[in-house]
Amino acid sequence: NTPKICVINGDGIGNEVVPETVRVLNELGDFEFIHAHAGYECFKRCGDAIPENTIEIAKESDCILFGSVTTPKPTELKNKSYRSPILTLRKELDLYANIRPTYNFDNLDFVIIRENTEGLYVKKEYYDEKNEVAIAERIISKFGSSRIVKFAFDYAVQNNRKKVSCIHKANVLRVTDGLFLEVFEEMSKHYEKLGIKSDDYLIDATAMYLIRNPQMFDVLVTTNLFGDILSDEAAGLIGGLGMSPSANIGDKNGLFEPVHGSAPDIAGKGISNPIATILSAAMMLDHLKMNKEAEYIRKAVKKTVECKYLTPDLGGNLKTFEVTEKIIESIRSQ
Ligand code: NAI
Ligand code: MG
Repeated sequence: NTPKICVINGDGIGNEVVPETVRVLNELGDFEFIHAHAGYECFKRCGDAIPENTIEIAKESDCILFGSVTTPKPTELKNKSYRSPILTLRKELDLYANIRPTYNFDNLDFVIIRENTEGLYVKKEYYDEKNEVAIAERIISKFGSSRIVKFAFDYAVQNNRKKVSCIHKANVLRVTDGLFLEVFEEMSKHYEKLGIKSDDYLIDATAMYLIRNPQMFDVLVTTNLFGDILSDEAAGLIGGLGMSPSANIGDKNGLFEPVHGSAPDIAGKGISNPIATILSAAMMLDHLKMNKEAEYIRKAVKKTVECKYLTPDLGGNLKTFEVTEKIIESIRSQ
């Protein structure tokens, strides 16, 4: 049972960092890679940024390794309809948990788990002409809250984490975040028996604590919009976009992608930082229960960073493939 991996390079530096990551994976095991298209170039070629065929391949795969895609400007779209590849995949595959770890191999190590399907991102927005009011619905379901909170606690158990913090604004949003917090508190009782502590913080205070005292956090679980904002704030605490991996997990598949975009300003120069995508692949290996191999990657990246074998975004002068070479060398020596 060789793992089936759907590989989507996408656009721009996705075409650099993804093939380099596949090279690293090939050092660590046998995988069946199935390449599929998505993104802006694909949209220009075939009129669809995410063809049905790609969705089919993704559904049939265990994991998807995703680079990054360029979003067309509204003027380029004219009257053509456009669907976002990543949003489409999250929806079609019901990838409800977005995991963003933040670690710097030194004093920082926490994970944000963001609900990926509801909240303010259900896109139920409308404009009430008569009263000149714009309204957005925020949907928090018991089902959606339960499965993300359970996911966060299970993640804590499986990854030797000690504490899960619920991030909310239940003092103001009494009904929606009230439900989210209630579900959290109920479920925390069960996991307390398994040795997982729990607490909760208001979103605004959390934004401040992340800067003043990020060490107080271990696993954070939160609703869609809060998680989106907090995880970008967290990326700012470490080496920035070139170092930040992420995972989108559903009950059947997992999609793994760097947090960064297609970086058109540096695309084609061979200087993009492959580490965010390589660390995303480590998360993929964890998901495939290849934890030993995942750890090889993280150790190799740590060593590479410590030895200052870096691309220009981190102040080095190595090329994308040279950083990959250093990581592969380090994996081979472990
Ligand atoms: P970006 O993440 O592509 O780039 C922001 C800055 O960070 C640029 O200066 C870039 O050179 C640098 N950077 C990003 N990743 C890097 C890496 N691996 N190594 C070295 N430097 C790196 O964000 P931007 O410029 O706002 O967006 C560019 C395009 O990407 C847009 O079309 C945007 O819509 C799309 N995008 C796609 C995402 C995805 O596919 N998930 C996520 C974010 C943006
Ligand atoms: Mg975001």
